[in-house]
Amino acid sequence: MKYPVNRLFAWGGAAAIAVAVALLWRHELGPQQASRVTLEPAGAAGPTIGGSFTLVDQNGKTVTAGDFRGRFMLVYFGYTYCPDVCPTTLTTMADAIDILDGDGDSVVPVFITVDPERDTPEHLKMYVNYFHPRLVGLTGTTQSVAAAAKAYRIYYAKAPEDGASGDDYLMDHLAFVFLMGPDGAFRAHFENGIGPEAMAKRIREYL
Ligand code: NI
Repeated sequence: MKYPVNRLFAWGGAAAIAVAVALLWRHELGPQQASRVTLEPAGAAGPTIGGSFTLVDQNGKTVTAGDFRGRFMLVYFGYTYCPDVCPTTLTTMADAIDILDGDGDSVVPVFITVDPERDTPEHLKMYVNYFHPRLVGLTGTTQSVAAAAKAYRIYYAKAPEDGASGDDYLMDHLAFVFLMGPDGAFRAHFENGIGPEAMAKRIREYL
């Protein structure tokens, strides 16, 4: 049985990640590109990060931003077929939550797909369970995902491979992790490459 190579990588281990490192800067937009995006806390004259969204979780339940009020959200946009940075970042988020232990009970890790065509709730369910039992996976219609990504100022676009068939493509996307407060407002962002200890330490400053 032949699986698309992207899928193998998405579920693969360290070896697959090592192979995929060469692809990293091509499909995950790093600090250079990201520097075009202004990331400032809400208020002053800076743009607001975050806001309302209506999406569907891995159990098929409709979820809005308001459902997370009273808890911190650790939010990451990506896609399950991502060969490299998404699995690494989700592992970092999961490890950070575990490092926070009981202190992290008020922090909900959230993965929002930028690839709703392939990332159905059923598919997300398998994927998020693989990383952390409390990781919430969110998908939705093309429009609702686009609206959520726009609210968080996450750029993404399909990146079809030369000669690949229609369902075999990568996604270019910004790879930030955001910490949102219990009031739903932006607190902090983390660039990819941060380790779980450093992430946990910074999250703790806001709890
Ligand atoms: Ni990715």
